[in-house]
Amino acid sequence: MPAAARTDPIPLARPEIDTREETLVLEVLRSGRLSLGPMGERFERELAEWLGVEDAVAVSSGTTALHLGVRALGWGPGDEVLTSPFSFVASANCLLYEGAKPIFCDVDPVTLDLDPAAVEAALSERSAGILPVHIFGYPAAMPELEAIAARHGLGLLEDACEALGAVDSEGRRVGARGNLATFAFYANKQLTTGEGGMIVPSDPAVAAKLRSERNQGRAPDMGWLDHGGVGFNYRLSDLAAALGVAQTEKLDRMLERRAAVAALYEEGLVGVEGVTAPSAGRGAERRSWFVYVVRLDDGIDRDATIARLAEQGIAAKAYLPCIHLFPHLRELGYGGGQFPVAEAASAGTLALPFFTALDESQVARVCEALARSLS
Ligand SMILES: Cc1ncc(COP(=O)(O)O)c(C=O)c1O
Repeated sequence: MPAAARTDPIPLARPEIDTREETLVLEVLRSGRLSLGPMGERFERELAEWLGVEDAVAVSSGTTALHLGVRALGWGPGDEVLTSPFSFVASANCLLYEGAKPIFCDVDPVTLDLDPAAVEAALSERSAGILPVHIFGYPAAMPELEAIAARHGLGLLEDACEALGAVDSEGRRVGARGNLATFAFYANKQLTTGEGGMIVPSDPAVAAKLRSERNQGRAPDMGWLDHGGVGFNYRLSDLAAALGVAQTEKLDRMLERRAAVAALYEEGLVGVEGVTAPSAGRGAERRSWFVYVVRLDDGIDRDATIARLAEQGIAAKAYLPCIHLFPHLRELGYGGGQFPVAEAASAGTLALPFFTALDESQVARVCEALARSLS
């Protein structure tokens, strides 16, 4: 057995939870206000302030944030929405929930985000909107996509579920451009509430609709058994919000730490044959490091590489499958070979362990194990 296998396993992800989270969760438990209490409002206020936006609406997940976003834009049957095939499935499913059709467009080979030229080429008279995904925390080409949307009268919903803290090509924080934008707080995200999400509304009327729909269609002045329209239970509990408040307080430091771990990887991977490190950002763009995904050269057996890493105690994952190839999207007419850039990326991308507590020696161990696995 190689020496590395005798040391502790290194997981793919691990949240950073400390006494501040414990204190705030306990505060909520002792308050007796487990939902719709002051902690939820505080999390919304503090994250909105951090983002530099007027308002933010907390919900139960990134998926429910996307669903409410689709409803807010009024996308439904007969509408086509241009989006990325290289994403997590929720960014397409949220359209299907409302009967709208995802129209996949290929991605840029470096950023792996929607390619504006591909979006332009896929426009039709049924196009109702664009749903860009800031994949792996890399900011999408928003100025270009906004220009297309403006020219053709399309709505925009940004899936920023992986991109809290990213900065776009105009130096603006992702989610703060005035479009509807969604964030997710699952346990591997830059900020976690265990399960949770946030949606940044485009104006106060949209914010009111989002708050009503997440809460069974109630308006603020309505009783528990009053409902002004269709709604859902997409509320975030105050226990989860307490985690969110504690995490927002240390968000800057956690993001810096993630960037530092990414820099350690970049250094450690120099000279590892067959592996291309991800870009931190071109020009003014700054990735918010969500995952550390490398690209393996064509011809490398990724599954065998993952298995060899596992033997050395290191978790790694093929990341991401193209979503147009899932059975329910194939039913819409999608199939292999339609989006060559996304499909090539999907065939060669590998996520390595990535979290704030990874230290220099662990990153070195992962890089050495990867080199050994490829040799
Ligand atoms: C790009 C993207 N969109 C949407 C989601 C859905 O978020 P959640 O898992 O909180 O529902 C995720 C979560 O992994 C994601 O990565």
